[in-house]
Amino acid sequence: MDNYDKLILQNKAWTEEQSEKNPNYFKDLAASRKPKFLWIGCSDSRVPATQITDTEPGEMYVHQNIANLVVHTDLNLLSVLQYAVSTLKVEHIIVCGHYDCHGIISAFEHTNLGLMNKWLRNIKDVYRFNTAEIDAIENNEAKISKLVELNVQEQVHNLAKTSIVQQAWEDGQKLSLHGWVFDIATGEVKEQININEAESVQDIYRYDLSKGLQY
Ligand code: CO
Repeated sequence: MDNYDKLILQNKAWTEEQSEKNPNYFKDLAASRKPKFLWIGCSDSRVPATQITDTEPGEMYVHQNIANLVVHTDLNLLSVLQYAVSTLKVEHIIVCGHYDCHGIISAFEHTNLGLMNKWLRNIKDVYRFNTAEIDAIENNEAKISKLVELNVQEQVHNLAKTSIVQQAWEDGQKLSLHGWVFDIATGEVKEQININEAESVQDIYRYDLSKGLQY
C-alpha cells in the first residue's frame, strides 16, 4: 500500500478510536475554538507542536515556517498573529526553535539555495548581531546550537516589536511571549526568554498607540 493511502486509513481508524474513548469527542472539538496558545515553530516534521506539549486539538493555534522566523513584512505570520492576539486573545505566544535545524545550519554556511537565501538571510543577521559570542565558541556544532538559541530570542524580540503585541499590552491584555528550544535528542524544551511587558522593548521600536492599532 502507498504511504498516502495509509494516511486515509489511519484517519478513519483515528476517528473511530477517539469516538470510542469519548463519544462526544468531535462535538466537544467543534465547540472548542478558544486556544490560549499561539505556537510559532519550525516546519521540521520532527517538532510537532501538540505532541511535544501533550496538548489536544483545540488548545493551540499553530504557525510554522522554516527556522521559526518572525519577519515583520511576512503577511502570513502577521495575519496569524493579529487573529490570535486580537480575536482569539491567546495568553501565550511560544516561538519554538530546535537543535539540528537545517534552516539554521544552511544560514551558517555559504550554500546558495536560490529563493531560500532571502528567507535565511534573516538568520545571518542574527549571527551578525551576536558575532563575538558565537565566534568565541570553538566547536562548530556548538556554534550552530548557540545560533539556534539566539535566533529564538531574536524572534521573540521581533514579536514584541509589532504594533499588534504592543497594542494588546496597551489595552491591558494578558499576553506573554516565550522562546523555547526543543532538543530532538531528549524531547525536552529549554526556555530561553520570557517577555510580558512593553518596557522590555527598546525605545526606538515602541509605537505611539494613542490613535489605536493602525497595523
Ligand atoms: Co528547523
